[in-house]
Formats: sequence, C-alpha cells, structure tokens
Amino acid sequence: MTLTLDFTNMMAGVLPGGGGITEADWRDGAAAFRDAHASVDAMRVADKLGFFTLPTNEALLKQSLDVANRVRGTIDDVLLLGIGGSALGPIALRTALCAPGWNMLDAKARDGYPRLHVLDNVDPISIAAIMGRLNLARTLVLVVSKSGGTVETMSQYLIVRDALDRTLGETAARERIVLVTDPEGGALRKIARAEGISAVDIPANVGGRFSVLSPVGVLPAALIGIDVRALLAGAADATARSTSNELNKNAAGAFGVLQWLADTRHGRHVHVLMPYADPLRDLALWFVQLWAESLGKIRKDGTHTGPTPLPALGATDQHSQVQLFMEGPLDKTVTFIAVKGREKDGPIPSRHADISELAYIGGHTLGELIDVEQRATAGALAVRGRFNATIHIDKIDAWHLGALMQTFALATAYAGALYGIDAFDQPGVELGKRFAYGMLGRPGFEAARDEWNALPRPDIRYQV
Ligand code: PA5
Repeated sequence: MTLTLDFTNMMAGVLPGGGGITEADWRDGAAAFRDAHASVDAMRVADKLGFFTLPTNEALLKQSLDVANRVRGTIDDVLLLGIGGSALGPIALRTALCAPGWNMLDAKARDGYPRLHVLDNVDPISIAAIMGRLNLARTLVLVVSKSGGTVETMSQYLIVRDALDRTLGETAARERIVLVTDPEGGALRKIARAEGISAVDIPANVGGRFSVLSPVGVLPAALIGIDVRALLAGAADATARSTSNELNKNAAGAFGVLQWLADTRHGRHVHVLMPYADPLRDLALWFVQLWAESLGKIRKDGTHTGPTPLPALGATDQHSQVQLFMEGPLDKTVTFIAVKGREKDGPIPSRHADISELAYIGGHTLGELIDVEQRATAGALAVRGRFNATIHIDKIDAWHLGALMQTFALATAYAGALYGIDAFDQPGVELGKRFAYGMLGRPGFEAARDEWNALPRPDIRYQV
C-alpha cells in the first residue's frame, strides 16, 4: 500500500528549453518549506488544526459507528443535506469506493447497504425529484453543517423536516434525523439539544473543507459500507509520511512546494488534477474546493494570491481539455493520479485482424490502455515543456483514498503558509452571503440590504 509522487516532469533538465523547476528553486523551496512547516506545526501544536488528528480520533470514529450500527437494516436511503466541504467529501468517497452507479443498484447488489443521496444545492428541481422518490420511513437524513446555520443547508433541512413530520409524525421523524455539526455552537446544535435529536460532532478546530475524515465523511461512508477504519489508516499513514520539515521526506510538502514554485516563479497559475480513473472523478472536484477556497486570498499587504484549480479526467479529457494543456498558454501544472491495480480488467477481444486501426488493440487490456494513455499524455506534455507530475497509487480502495485526501489536506495547509495567507478561513464569501441575508430579510442584515440596494441597478444600455 503506497502513494508516490513522481515530479520528474516538473524539473529543469528534464523539460526542454531550460524550463522547469531548477536546483536553485528547489533549494529555495526547501528553505521556505522549513518556515512553512514551522508555522503549520505551531498551529497544530496549539490545537488549531484538528484535521491532523482525525485519522486517530477513536472517540469520534465511535460516534459514527454507533449511528451506523443503530440504523443498520432499518434504512434503504441516506439523504445528506449539506454544501461545500459538508458535501464534496461524502460525494467523492461514494464515487470512489462504492460500486459504480451505487444508487441505481438493487439492495442485493449493495449488500443491503443504503443508497446515498447528497443534496448539495438548493435547486428546487433536484429537491422535488429526490423527495418524490424517497420512502421517508426507510430514510436516514443527515444534516451536515459545521456552522449549523448555512442558508442552503438550513433551507434543505426545513423542507425535509416538514416532510418527515407530516409523513411520519414528529416523534418518528426525530428518529430519522442525525445532525452533524459543531459540538457546541450553531442552530443545529440548539435543535439537537431542544428536541433530543441525535447529533455527532465536527470538532471545533476542523473547518468544512478539511472535515472529510470527521463524521462529515466518515458517518455517510460507514452507513454505506465503506471500510472507514481503512480510510482512516491510510490517512494516518499519510500524516506520518508528511511530518518531516525536510522537503525530500514530506510528500504533502513536496506537492505544495512544487505547485507554489510553479505558480510564483514559473507562471503556472492553473493547477489541474487529472485522475485516470472514473471512481476518482469526484475526488478532483473535492480537491478543487480545497485548493481554491483555501488559497484564493488577499495577503496582509493587500496583494492577491491563489492558483486556480481545474478538474479533469483521463482518458476522457484527452478529447477535450488536453489540447489546451498541450498548446494553450504555458500557465498550467497537471497532476495525474495513476492507479496500478485495476479491478475487473481483462483482455480486449482480438477481432478484425485485417483492419489495422483495430488489429493492434486486441489482446491488450483496458487497464493497460488507460495506463499507457496516462503515461503517453504525461510524456507528450513534458516534451512540450508542460509541467506535470504523477501520483501513483496501488489501487482504489479506502486506504488509498484516505491517504490521498489527507495528503492533499496537508499540502493545502503547507501551501497556505508558503503563500503567506490563512488557508483556513474564507472571508471572500462573506459579502455575498450578507447581501443574500439582507435581501431575504434576515434580522441584523439591514445594513447589507441597504448596501445592496445602493448598488448600480441593471441598465437597459447593457442588455442585449
Ligand atoms: O470549507 C468550508 O468551510 C466551506 O466550504 C463550508 O464547508 C461550507 O460553506 C458549508 O459550511 P457549513 O458546513 O458550516 O454549513
């Protein structure tokens, strides 16, 4: 069980024309990393970065396992209400670790585990569709919100709670809900206390996009039969392999430093994550939120910072975005995820021996094809001076997912320190939220409503 980062194709001397990260860059990166490591470590020691210890927090794991054991056999569906960091992790885990098309399989094919639906938006079409399909008497509703007050999640909750109460009656409805939220604060915690509704904790020192290994991801994962102990073991291993302040011995640090150097010294502002595996498609979307919301910030000196993450999927995007990666602006890094062992792989049938476009394919396997295509794309990008790296994993399982997610979380923390910003807040989304609250008439947001009302109105001259 391993995870290896190969960054050969990021380096000067390998890339043509003198491009690439130089020995001097790497030396400077190693020095900057020692400082970044010290600053992250100081936060860790001060108990501000709870995600570090999630993989070994047995008490927290027990909270999720207790819920999963309690409801086993009594539910066909889990409906998760949440958004941002409260939704993307569970979606990524389901896509990676459950059988393809999980929610469309019958109970036998799911080994009796429930379907998992994640409502990560407030589009009435999606909510009406899911509410029309569910048998609420056999559904467990997880309301996931660290703050316990996010307008989208609270709106979903009000709709679903109303339907549960009307369908099942208030007492039975309460049994069908689990609140996943801050241990002390927020509206959800108040509801839990007031109504005796079951609640599990997101530790106070764990923020949304760093919470996938808390009950945010672990509870839904346990409910749908994912091996959560293996998930956490992989994450624990990744943490252990990323503790050193020596760059060459810290995989997460190396990823963070490489992207930071590529961005700040070589103009590679767009960071593509491109797994060559369908099950990892949503991992790329999870990474996008982690990288974007953590690193897109204003520094203390007023300058703006933040690479733009971009999700891609191999081999599919070879027929879409790769043209841009190959010949578009020299402003990207591409990180591939390559998988060594593929399940259900077998030879492609040999047919049409007389047609050269098909004859060479037979006898190879699909796993071989997708692997060759990844290596071919990496090599082609390198030949054109395009920075790329490859994360190799042995296989797609809970252990490797845990290792990948924790490595990216750690890399994000280190990158935040390298960029000189706070990777753990998101002040940029506050103004839009305050405007929305003002427009919806939330008490205390009258000034925001007035500020919104004073903004330029739509002008007919600028409409076509
Ligand atoms: O990463 C973050 O902190 C955010 O994306 C949050 O996850 C998102 O805003 C949802 O917040 P909450 O979990 O408080 O409802």
